[in-house]
Amino acid sequence: MIDFFQFHSPTRIVAGEPGLLGQLAPELAPFEGLRAGIVTDRVLGAMAYFHALETSLAAAGIEVAAVYRDVPQDSDVDVVHAVRDLFAANHCGMIIAVGGGSVIDTAKAANIVMTHGGELRDYQGAHILTETLLPLVAVPTTVGTGSEVTMAAVIADPQDKRKLTLLDHRLSPALAVLDPQVTFSLPPQLTAATAMDALTHAFEAFVDLEHSPFSDMWAVAAADMIRANLVGALQPEGFAAARTRLQWASTMAGVAFNHSMVGIVHAMAHALGGVAKVPHGVANSLMLTQGLRFNLEEVPDRIADIGVRAGFVQATPDTKATAVATIEAVAALRATACRMTGMAETLIQAGVRREQLPFLVERACEDGSLLYNPRQAMEEDILQMFEGVMD
Ligand SMILES: [Fe+2]
Repeated sequence: MIDFFQFHSPTRIVAGEPGLLGQLAPELAPFEGLRAGIVTDRVLGAMAYFHALETSLAAAGIEVAAVYRDVPQDSDVDVVHAVRDLFAANHCGMIIAVGGGSVIDTAKAANIVMTHGGELRDYQGAHILTETLLPLVAVPTTVGTGSEVTMAAVIADPQDKRKLTLLDHRLSPALAVLDPQVTFSLPPQLTAATAMDALTHAFEAFVDLEHSPFSDMWAVAAADMIRANLVGALQPEGFAAARTRLQWASTMAGVAFNHSMVGIVHAMAHALGGVAKVPHGVANSLMLTQGLRFNLEEVPDRIADIGVRAGFVQATPDTKATAVATIEAVAALRATACRMTGMAETLIQAGVRREQLPFLVERACEDGSLLYNPRQAMEEDILQMFEGVMD
């Protein structure tokens, strides 16, 4: 029974033809006169589209005061503090993030410590920010994060091998820019992994306790679009249209889980990232069907509903059988993506060692995403799910 929900999606989204980043000056007008700090990584910072964005910034009267190019795949607290130091020294009045989830979340976290002072660890938790943040423009370069439209940031804390989760409406970017061009140079495996992250956002948003008709709509549209375009996006010929749609779907799934949160799959994925450095998309790809099978007992109707509405299966009178068929269809899609790209199909292939299992279980059990999962999980349930994809 849904007794209360709200829908708030403050990020302006602009999408267009490949090359949009070079034509962006009119969309950047609200930030005219500000000094920008750009967060990116070494590969993306050398791309032609990055330089096209710099041209647009100049045309919009925005000076690039500093560029931080050293964000790693799984950013951590030290990186966030380094970005803060660089941007504060250069008096930046806005932040631009060009990259995947790690880059965008680094920009969000740096924004917190720039405007609130102190250390990032002080702000772990939900809705505790008090100050106005700097305007943030997010340019997602993968097809999975959704961070360009969410109020969440997840940053690793290497001190105790856990991920800090920061949640606040103030973290929502002011502007999200979807230029399909950025997806064209994504390697197939990264495309598959990040799309599986987005598919997980859609499924968890739909199945979670916090779902509403508003989040459902975005989750269904995203899941349908990923189902229809994932394979096409992994083929060398004619992939542009499919990747463009994956990019839209990723942002739609971001809107969905921004309102309904994520669940047990993300709890396990965060643990895999924190303990064993498994990339976030690969971790979700590995755990998605495990989590759905676990939730099957509690919410077969919800799993069947998204399966039918997103085109994974035909409706049948037997709800549980429809839910099972949905999970099998998701598993088949993942298997195809793994076969086409060499993405890991087991935890061993992803570099996890068996002796890490107890630590993984411990970390997953303390993850905040479990709060929203429709079925309560015990340690042995989580262990069983990890063991189910071990080798
Ligand atoms: Fe995710």
